[in-house]
Amino acid sequence: MNASGTSFKTNYICMAVAIGGLLFGFDTAVISGAINLITAQFSLNVNMQGWLVSCGLLGCILGVFATGILSDRVGRKKTIILSGCMFLFSSIGCAFSSSIQLLIIARLLGGIGVGMASVISPMYIAEFAPADKRGRMIAWYQLAITIGILLAYFSNALLLFVAKHHFNSSAAIWFFNTETWRPMFLVMSAPSLVFVLMLAWVPESPRWLVSINKNEKAKKILLTVRPQLLAEKEFEDITSAAKKAEIKKSSLLDPSIRLPLVIGIVLAVLQQFCGINAIIYYGPGIFESAGINSSNALVFQVIIGAVNLLFTIVAIKWADKYGRKLLLKVGLTGIVLSLAGCGFLFYTGNTQGITLLILMLLFIACFAFSLGPITWIIINEMFPTELRVKAVSVCVLALWIAVWMVGQFFPWLLAKTGAAFTFWMFAFFSIINFFFCWKVVKETTGKTLEEMEQIFVTGH
Ligand code: BGC
Repeated sequence: MNASGTSFKTNYICMAVAIGGLLFGFDTAVISGAINLITAQFSLNVNMQGWLVSCGLLGCILGVFATGILSDRVGRKKTIILSGCMFLFSSIGCAFSSSIQLLIIARLLGGIGVGMASVISPMYIAEFAPADKRGRMIAWYQLAITIGILLAYFSNALLLFVAKHHFNSSAAIWFFNTETWRPMFLVMSAPSLVFVLMLAWVPESPRWLVSINKNEKAKKILLTVRPQLLAEKEFEDITSAAKKAEIKKSSLLDPSIRLPLVIGIVLAVLQQFCGINAIIYYGPGIFESAGINSSNALVFQVIIGAVNLLFTIVAIKWADKYGRKLLLKVGLTGIVLSLAGCGFLFYTGNTQGITLLILMLLFIACFAFSLGPITWIIINEMFPTELRVKAVSVCVLALWIAVWMVGQFFPWLLAKTGAAFTFWMFAFFSIINFFFCWKVVKETTGKTLEEMEQIFVTGH
């Protein structure tokens, strides 16, 4: 254990919980490779195709609500295990569903898993990590999302490759040659199972235990993961904050919660309005429409995914060292410049050269070390324990609604106004985000969760 109290056990616990992010990334990306195969097999019309994609998002919203209710009642740990089970059921259900209706139900379950994981995984890490390592440990969750996205691309590509080979048994021909989308979904059952098994060694969140008056148990857990002095100090901080909370009986409508709630919602929505998912999922199509020969769309997807993953590591290294706000400001500057540049290339018709690819990669890199992880970090560290899950759920709900809006309106905007205007729209929202982060967002680096209230109420 080092001086700040980061033991092997703390690392293991936070990494295990971060795997929820990997499943989130995998589940949301796998559909992009499977959708055409499913459409062909079930002869889906445009409406059914849209429904198959959006039922995952509907599931996310249900999952966020479920977590808001469950995790205060049954605890953080059980809620995380349940999210893992959702991924497992969904992956097996999708792989063996005999009709499109069953497939939709199974996708809905996966969406619920994603919604649950997106609230509970980073929140648990925020509650468990030592204050000076909290940024990097929540960024592990973002890293896991990027690994999940990349894994889905690779496993889809591998399965399409395998599908070219001919098998002898009729079951293998059915599964791998004719209905290749089935193993695409089934692959997720392996990390889901690993996730659920690894959770066996993850303790309950000490902060939640104190909130239900199980103080002794909470102290015992803290003593196993921090040096004794730090554990005792943290335990005192948590219990005295819990006592104050009991007297105050605060609610989400409390004036002291207003500022962090506004910050969380605005950051969540503007994270999506920079167009990240449009670029991740429609990137290869954008290149094609720009006239770049993308006979191998996967190459683009993999390059984008790899840059996304690599630059998240910068946030892991720097989020606690240089602070959340500096990374946000630098990252958003790069995001605005690269988006505006892409718009300019489309406006002037200079989209054939390498510059477009470079600008898009610059955009992804800047997102990966700033908006991507830091949004999740800040949302999860601002609120007091007694309101944390409710407040985080509201912010994450806003994020999923924004994901839905971009998914609905991006293709429409692209068709109606063209790529230049669409990129400039994303740039415009990111300029607003820059000023918001500069003027309104508060620096939370290095503070304990119990010190947050002071920052938001008194400004220090
Ligand atoms: C965002 C996701 C996005 C992912 C890409 C996350 O922080 O919330 O919408 O797909 O980053 O890495």
